[in-house]
Amino acid sequence: MIGKGRQTRDGIHIYAPDDHSGMHKAGALASQILDEIAEHVFPGQTTAELDRLIETKVDAAAAQSATIGYRGYQHASCISVNHVVCHGIPGSPIPKWKKETSAQKEDPMRADDKLIDGDLLNIDVTVIVDGWFGDTSRMYVAGKPKGFAKKLIQVTHDALMLGIEAVKPGNTFGDIGHAIQTYVERQRMSVVRDFCGHGLGRVFHSPPNVLHYGRAGSGPVLEEGMFFTIEPMVNLGRPETKVLADDWTAVTRDKSLSAQFEHSVGVTSDGADIFTLSKAGLYHPTWT
Ligand code: MF3
Ligand code: CO
Ligand code: CO
Repeated sequence: MIGKGRQTRDGIHIYAPDDHSGMHKAGALASQILDEIAEHVFPGQTTAELDRLIETKVDAAAAQSATIGYRGYQHASCISVNHVVCHGIPGSPIPKWKKETSAQKEDPMRADDKLIDGDLLNIDVTVIVDGWFGDTSRMYVAGKPKGFAKKLIQVTHDALMLGIEAVKPGNTFGDIGHAIQTYVERQRMSVVRDFCGHGLGRVFHSPPNVLHYGRAGSGPVLEEGMFFTIEPMVNLGRPETKVLADDWTAVTRDKSLSAQFEHSVGVTSDGADIFTLSKAGLYHPTWT
């Protein structure tokens, strides 16, 4: 139980209209941190330094990081570079991807955590403000995007926004997944199945699992007052992932590039209230 309010049969908490303001404060901080980190992403920068900057910004706002101490995780962000799908650990050597190495070799790593020209990266930040959780992630590019990177980022962002368009009372969680999957697969890219979005609000991860694929009309029915994330991971190649020996870093098995965007949203009487929009307009990937 999460204080007052009720829960659906599926264990999904229904929040009150007043609770949107708390979520907006938390979401705005997480989003502002992602706005401010953009200028610090460049070739030669390290993921450790990006994470240090993020932690400093969380502290300066007198907020808390939701990820530090979460299941033993020790950082204020996840930074996932190239074929890392999610949960990349700041400061760890960056896994080499296809263009740098043969796909046969087992998980070779770079010497360090320095970004190089053309790297694409997802930065995922979750903060707690007055007990409310704001969880959001975006894509960045160090230097100039190469090959299909720009297209992948564009498709992933569009997929997230199409998923959000399916958010309204009476639709189902399957409708969200269906909107995302059909769009992504029409672009001949694939949706990751091994990780999903989640309910959040006064807790970090709560029911339901928000799948980024599925059949229209399947799953729980959306109701006003549900708060959750949508955070599709899209691969240029196949959808399968594996987790590296550090027990966190998830990579594409075929070493194809992967991208992700995440918003925290609430269901209103007729649509979605997005808690994590970028005030600086940097949510859209065309800054590259
Ligand atoms: N922010 C991630 C999410 O979108 C969760 C990160 S958990 C961590 O749900 F421990 F890896 F940081
Ligand atoms: Co999330
Ligand atoms: Co997140």
